[in-house]
Amino acid sequence: MTCVAEKTLSAAEALVAAELKRLKIAAGTKVERPRHREQGDLAFACFEAAKKSGKNPVELAKQIAGSLKPELGKEFSSCEAVNGFVNFFFSQELIAQAIAEALKQESAYGTGSGGKGKTAVIDYSSPNVGKPLHVGHIRSTILGAALKKLLEARGWKVVGSNYLGEAGTQVAMLLVGLRKYGAQNLSGEKALLDHYVRINKEVEGSEELQKQVRSVLEAMESGDKGVAAELTRLRELSMPALKKNYGLLGVSFDEILFDTDFSVPAKPLVEEAVKKGIAFKEKTGETVAKLEEHGLPNLVILRSNGTTLYSSRDLALAEWRWKTHEFDECIYVTGSDQNMHFRQVFKILELLGRPYADRLKHIGFGLISLPEGKFSTREGRIVLLEDLLSAAAEEAKNEILERKTQTEERTGEEYSEKEVEETARAVGVGATKFAFLRVGAEKNILFDLKRVVSFEGDTGAYAQYTLVRCFNILRKAGKTKPVFKGALAPEEQRLSRSLADYPLVVQGAAGSLAPHVVCDYLLRLCADFSSFYEACPVLKAESSEAVARRLALVKAASIVLENGLGLLGINTPKRM
Ligand code: ARG
Repeated sequence: MTCVAEKTLSAAEALVAAELKRLKIAAGTKVERPRHREQGDLAFACFEAAKKSGKNPVELAKQIAGSLKPELGKEFSSCEAVNGFVNFFFSQELIAQAIAEALKQESAYGTGSGGKGKTAVIDYSSPNVGKPLHVGHIRSTILGAALKKLLEARGWKVVGSNYLGEAGTQVAMLLVGLRKYGAQNLSGEKALLDHYVRINKEVEGSEELQKQVRSVLEAMESGDKGVAAELTRLRELSMPALKKNYGLLGVSFDEILFDTDFSVPAKPLVEEAVKKGIAFKEKTGETVAKLEEHGLPNLVILRSNGTTLYSSRDLALAEWRWKTHEFDECIYVTGSDQNMHFRQVFKILELLGRPYADRLKHIGFGLISLPEGKFSTREGRIVLLEDLLSAAAEEAKNEILERKTQTEERTGEEYSEKEVEETARAVGVGATKFAFLRVGAEKNILFDLKRVVSFEGDTGAYAQYTLVRCFNILRKAGKTKPVFKGALAPEEQRLSRSLADYPLVVQGAAGSLAPHVVCDYLLRLCADFSSFYEACPVLKAESSEAVARRLALVKAASIVLENGLGLLGINTPKRM
């Protein structure tokens, strides 16, 4: 659906384009949401145009704003030059249209068709088999799932792809362990981990077992049928735990891939690289991609014994995905410690002349640290997702119980033990997701459980709580019809502007693959709602017109909060 806000953005771009043409300046005309709303609803940065025309950006902005002012359509109330930007302000009329749109479109409000006909593959979560999901994989899972929703909201077809890591000593040891001790009592992340620790110790002291591990590795490489059956057995043991985790997070995938399936197809790619002079065989026997001349470190793509590596399998994986999905974008979400790996892999594919090389993108995120005693990651202890989410739910439960009587009074219904538990779960998971998404990917996260789950402050729980407040008002309003009409108090004005902004937020966040933009926006919307709610009585407003108008704002706010939280994969309980 194209919404009025998006059309307005195009209108502003057209105005800028016409003006630049008149001034004979060939420069980009991209209009964007300004970072601070004092700068208007849309802004055009004059810096590039100024550079190209040899003008001072501050002067150029003044000139453009001056010429555009009389040209503005009814969607704008004004445009102003500030510090090299031309800022556009939405008119009251446009804002009213946007509110009406929200009320009408409901769950579709904020979606767009900019990505229609395009396909994205997103590689997220992608843990290693037999190890518990570590916090890095949790971040990848949450971030990737949010990106999927964000792109889908823009009309993209998205393939959520989970690339599980089996190739490597860890899994080889697990298989040897399976042979030795059997599979009794081997379900769950903890049991598998214990199993690994046990066999690992034994392998250390036994030449014979080391030989076995090596032969399993080789068999995995060549796609040996016997080992493949053993791998299947291991998958049966490890997948339920993984699925349970995804269930807890409420995320899913369209495709599950195993890296062991990409060893065989990786070899011809390595050969091709050698043939094309992109890679060479080192005296020591390894095959190395020559990347130094392209400003990157060289990369080993085949071991001297002829076995593949993480790098070579990623070449084959990209090739397979291209052939399978013909993607417009393929986005990998991993820790930033893999930034270089992906630059190297992408470069090799470019040198191989792959047409899709420039469609590959990597999002490398920063570290997560858990400062509190129980979950401290400092000693390298493993944090299980299940435990983390339970602790978050426990914190949330405290907050809910504190407000229990108040909630019961407000809704006139008793809060059952069961509902408290369910609500605590939803708040705990939601708050955890929000805390992971709020921070720009490249930044590190300090995950403080208590703060993250608080109903006040910059948290997901605060956003959920605001939505629940909207639900409460709407419930009380009963059948009163929301109609957005009449003169606005300043707080109504502010809130309605933010609501009209939402589709552009989604567009911008999807365009820059940045869910944190949605988080920032939602927090600001909550603050706007809060000031509105304090200053403007809704059901007890001075006139029936004001009641209907404010009700429309509350309804629209509930729609936007629900949609926005939905993009982040966060559900909201009916009461909190
Ligand atoms: N399994 C890898 C890890 O845990 C992440 C895989 C990411 N995806 C990829 N195509 N390399 O570090």
